[in-house]
Amino acid sequence: MVEHVQVTTEDYRKRAIEEAGYNTFLLKSRDVYIDLLTDSGTSAMSDRQWAGMMLGDESYAGSENFYHLEDAVKRHYGYPFLVPTHQGRGAEHILSNILIKEGDYVPGNMYFTTTKLHQELAGGQFFDAIIDEAHDPMNEHPFKGNFNIEKLDAFINKVGADKIPYVSMATTVNMAGGQPISLQNLKDLRALTDKYGIKIIHDMTRVAENAYFIQQREEGQQNKSVAAIVREICDLTDGATMSAKKDALVNIGGFIALRDEGIYNQVRNMVVVYEGLHTYGGLAGRDLEAMAIGIAESLDDFHIQARVGQVIYLGEKLIEYGVPIVKPIGSHGIFLNARAFLPHVSQDKFPAQTLAAEIYTNSGVRTMERGVVSAGRNKETGEHNYPKLELVRLTIPRRVYTQAHMDVVAESVAHVYEKRNEIKGLKMVYEPEYLRFFQAKFEVL
Ligand SMILES: Cc1ncc(COP(=O)(O)O)c(C=O)c1O
Repeated sequence: MVEHVQVTTEDYRKRAIEEAGYNTFLLKSRDVYIDLLTDSGTSAMSDRQWAGMMLGDESYAGSENFYHLEDAVKRHYGYPFLVPTHQGRGAEHILSNILIKEGDYVPGNMYFTTTKLHQELAGGQFFDAIIDEAHDPMNEHPFKGNFNIEKLDAFINKVGADKIPYVSMATTVNMAGGQPISLQNLKDLRALTDKYGIKIIHDMTRVAENAYFIQQREEGQQNKSVAAIVREICDLTDGATMSAKKDALVNIGGFIALRDEGIYNQVRNMVVVYEGLHTYGGLAGRDLEAMAIGIAESLDDFHIQARVGQVIYLGEKLIEYGVPIVKPIGSHGIFLNARAFLPHVSQDKFPAQTLAAEIYTNSGVRTMERGVVSAGRNKETGEHNYPKLELVRLTIPRRVYTQAHMDVVAESVAHVYEKRNEIKGLKMVYEPEYLRFFQAKFEVL
């Protein structure tokens, strides 16, 4: 299937981004030429997935498609209990509410926006236990998603294991630039958490991409398939939340997967309140079927190689142009280092937000901010959180674009880089309370 794409002029785009308050989330998709806002729900489904959509069993309860999905999750990920949700944050909401109590701490390998918010809304406080290298865009550590095990151990001793319902472990780490955790580090994390009787909850949104990096980079893993590594990762954890809109190649969907039947029963009960019955969780039968098929497709070695290969292709082009990006190149997108790109724009003037708007104006390529706007405010002081990483994410949907599109993107970013000295910052003129990056508005300084 092909889609009409509108070609716009620079003047048109200047008006469009101004009307959108310099927030690429507020642009109309019809005004976008190449859409690298996100890889979430934007991938192309396969012929098999579309065929599966036609087999949707839209019964309210006990849909055949639910059992196909349950089977796929058991077979490929090894989790015995499954509850579908409408997407990842639906899963995070329910699991956080069940596992976290007021005053608890949830350590993780860097935060993710929705995950952290749900932990906080449930009364918990996030603790960043990722290795320091992850906060340095230039550091080429092959597993920047790793936990600092000593730091985590010291933290557990400080606050007490009874205050930590679980460790939140993401594969890959989105906010660090799509960086993987190594199998060895996960084994070390398992040993540590076992010592204290703490659970590991796996944000498995991009687990196949993480497994691919393990296969490519970790000693002794080269002869294993991505599917086998994915299974090994899951086997080291107690449960998972999934945004199936990424790895699992669907436009909508997610789930909670568990080993503990007691927690499963609580989740199964609560999903009825917020999402829908436990055999559909806010999704249509056809969506469950597409997800079941997408999970199997996502684990194919050739698919993952091509998917990550395209990201690396774009990254290498940008490096050739001298554009500062996060290294090593991550799995789902290229992350421009906005601090190095626009050193004259201080962080309180939102350099990454500014850069995303400039790239759109230049070429109609839509990207997004991952810096101070995404980091939000400190709950106690009300001040902006100023993260070390001030990034623009060029996220690549799976099975959608060709390398020719990547060439256009690289040329556009290179062009903006050439005239970077002319770029000024932004000021925020509207700020919503939660997840402000989605809806905040800005004006040019
Ligand atoms: C690592 C990670 N976790 C959780 C989520 C939340 O998932 P969803 O957007 O499906 O609610 C996302 C989505 O971007 C993500 O990248």
